[in-house]
Amino acid sequence: MTAFLQIQRLRKTYDDVVAIDQVSLDVRKGEFMTFLGPSGSGKSTTLYIVAGFQEPSEGRVLLDGKPLLSVAPNKRNIGMVFQRYTLFPHLTVGENVAFPLRVRRRPDAEVKAKVDKMLALVHLSECRDRMPAQLSGGQQQRVAIARALAYDPPVLLMDEPLSALDKKLREEIQLELRRIHQETGVTILYVTHDQEEALRLSDRIAVFNKGRIEQVGTGEELYANPASRFVASFIGNSNFLPVRLKSNTDGVMNGVFPNGHEVASGAFNPALTPGDDGTLMIRPEQMRIRSLHDMRSAANAASLPVTVRDITYLGDAMHYAVATPWQQEISIRMPAGHRHDSGLAIGTQALVDWDARDVRLFSQA
Ligand SMILES: Nc1ncnc2c1ncn2[C@@H]1O[C@H](COP(=O)(O)OP(=O)(O)OP(=O)(O)O)[C@@H](O)[C@H]1O
Ligand SMILES: [Mg+2]
Repeated sequence: MTAFLQIQRLRKTYDDVVAIDQVSLDVRKGEFMTFLGPSGSGKSTTLYIVAGFQEPSEGRVLLDGKPLLSVAPNKRNIGMVFQRYTLFPHLTVGENVAFPLRVRRRPDAEVKAKVDKMLALVHLSECRDRMPAQLSGGQQQRVAIARALAYDPPVLLMDEPLSALDKKLREEIQLELRRIHQETGVTILYVTHDQEEALRLSDRIAVFNKGRIEQVGTGEELYANPASRFVASFIGNSNFLPVRLKSNTDGVMNGVFPNGHEVASGAFNPALTPGDDGTLMIRPEQMRIRSLHDMRSAANAASLPVTVRDITYLGDAMHYAVATPWQQEISIRMPAGHRHDSGLAIGTQALVDWDARDVRLFSQA
């Protein structure tokens, strides 16, 4: 099955600045796809090329199998919601939502019915006759969403639509967006640099870095199997331990930490050969810590002696900041309420261990 929206090898340069390069992505019909990445990584550029506000230097975009870039922006029928409120200040809420339908010269009865339906969808039916200035920021953004969806666009593009709102309002509208997406089945491309927002909303996430897409997958896939150190650090928290490879065969890696401590893991990376420096990634919740006096504490090839630097009670979890023998601070998160922390105090020696299969190995040192 071909994808509904196909983005193929897009490249955009401004003089000698490469804004995006080799950006390719297939989006399914009805999918909620999020572009996640740091500032300047090319998220908006990609979105604006799809919208028609910018022309790529190379590459193409297909919608439903047909080339999109040769279609004039105002004929693309693509809905767009921006970060800042873009309502027409001199039009009522109802007339704002009606605007794209009036532009398309739809009959009055149809416009009225559609405006009713859209305002009900965003739960703002009572505000139809108000002016935008008489609405809160969150309400204004919901009107912008209603307006963007009023003519049933096949694709809705949203560039950080919630970033100007406070946290509580943001979370409220995130829930609304999920519901609207489910009710309308519209295909959404959504830009954010907030990983929590991306995880909460998306069917899949495309992680942008330096003008390229580093990985595409569900939140779970990206968390469990990050393709790079960058993705691992951008989705969730991670510990990155430097390791020098001794061998890397048959799906098993053997190496040494900077203090000479040997480590083995099920993480295999074909890009690395003996002598290379790599990085082991272990999530804080995949590590366990226990006192050196604990009967079970025996160093093995998936453990490290550490010094406890800080212990924080987080309600459902305990967080430990510990120092490795080479003075790198790493994090461990364990469920609270167990007696695993007995004998652990700030300044004491402890042993951290993990399941060798949970580790990932990246080639960047
Ligand atoms: N008109 C322009 N002229 C020159 N460089 C540009 C222009 N527009 C964008 N860029 C550059 O292209 C790169 C990608 O920009 P883009 O706006 O796509 O990033 P972004 O991921 O949306 O960032 P943010 O999260 O800050 O919105 C950046 O390095 C930016 O400086
Ligand atoms: Mg942007």
